[in-house]
Amino acid sequence: EVPTATLNNGRKIPLIGLGTWKSKPGEIKQATLHALRAGYRHVDCAEYYNNEHEIGEALQTVFSEGVVKREDVFLTSKLWNNHHSKESVRPAVEKILKNLRVSHLDLLLIHWPYTGNVGPTVQPTIRETWQAMEALVSEGLVHSIGVSNFSTKKVADIISYAQVPPSVVQVEIHPYWRQDDLLSFCGERNIHVTAFSPLGSPDSSAMFQRKGPKLMDDPTLVSIASSLNKSPAQCLIRWGLQHGTSILPKSVNEGRIRSNLDVTSWELPRADYEALCSLSFQQRMVTARYWLNPKGPYKTEGEFWDEGP
Ligand code: A2P
Repeated sequence: EVPTATLNNGRKIPLIGLGTWKSKPGEIKQATLHALRAGYRHVDCAEYYNNEHEIGEALQTVFSEGVVKREDVFLTSKLWNNHHSKESVRPAVEKILKNLRVSHLDLLLIHWPYTGNVGPTVQPTIRETWQAMEALVSEGLVHSIGVSNFSTKKVADIISYAQVPPSVVQVEIHPYWRQDDLLSFCGERNIHVTAFSPLGSPDSSAMFQRKGPKLMDDPTLVSIASSLNKSPAQCLIRWGLQHGTSILPKSVNEGRIRSNLDVTSWELPRADYEALCSLSFQQRMVTARYWLNPKGPYKTEGEFWDEGP
């Protein structure tokens, strides 16, 4: 069984979820079936990934086979940038639910703190979006709410006015992008952190034109993996678990889907865990460059991530 964490509203989140970004229509249905049949109980989706309808077909299949019950699967989706206004949030979620063929989401995230407007401030405001999401919690359409790709400062802003505090913050985290400050901020406030791209997302590095070494080829990692007789991917997933996050390894390959889940009966020895916590190369792979505009609201990466100029 996949271990779970308890969120700040008492609900449970399975610590390993299937990542579905860049899984193409035509392959994601099969991947979701493999995952659920192999024991995955958490699927991380988004309207933007444009594949939720196939995930819905897979869910319907396993539910009707009796392999898994709806209440045993944790389903996350994310509001896209053009669905932030109070009028848009509910219809967007209704469409997600229709595609996934379910009547509620376990978790709804704001995908990016960006709406496409040009100007000095984000419009509609994140506050407007958050309040519309809170209403969906009251209605029971979504059980928990949170954000993705937010900085510590942007999470703090939400906390300052939230009636329903964020339960989950989902960001890029792996040994090449640790985000220690955000992790401790969330830890102190009982906000669960989910790590996306836990393998360093080798299939997106080209798209984001990320320069530099590939995480899965890191010499420290490779030597730890061989000493433990595990794959580098398994060691990275294990690192994420020991680091206190849930993790979302993406794969569409049945063997890799299975092996990525085979990480609960062993541990990284402390020295190996710590070695992976101190790799000096640090670089975010998923940048915000698509959302920058000289007129704002974000002119630079530094402004976007609240890291200075
Ligand atoms: P594939 O889908 O063909 O398995 P991340 O989760 O960090 O975004 O990384 C996803 C990428 O890592 C995908 O390209 C995926 O390819 C690949 N991948 C997933 N699991 C493994 C594994 N166990 N070993 C090697 N590559 C993997």
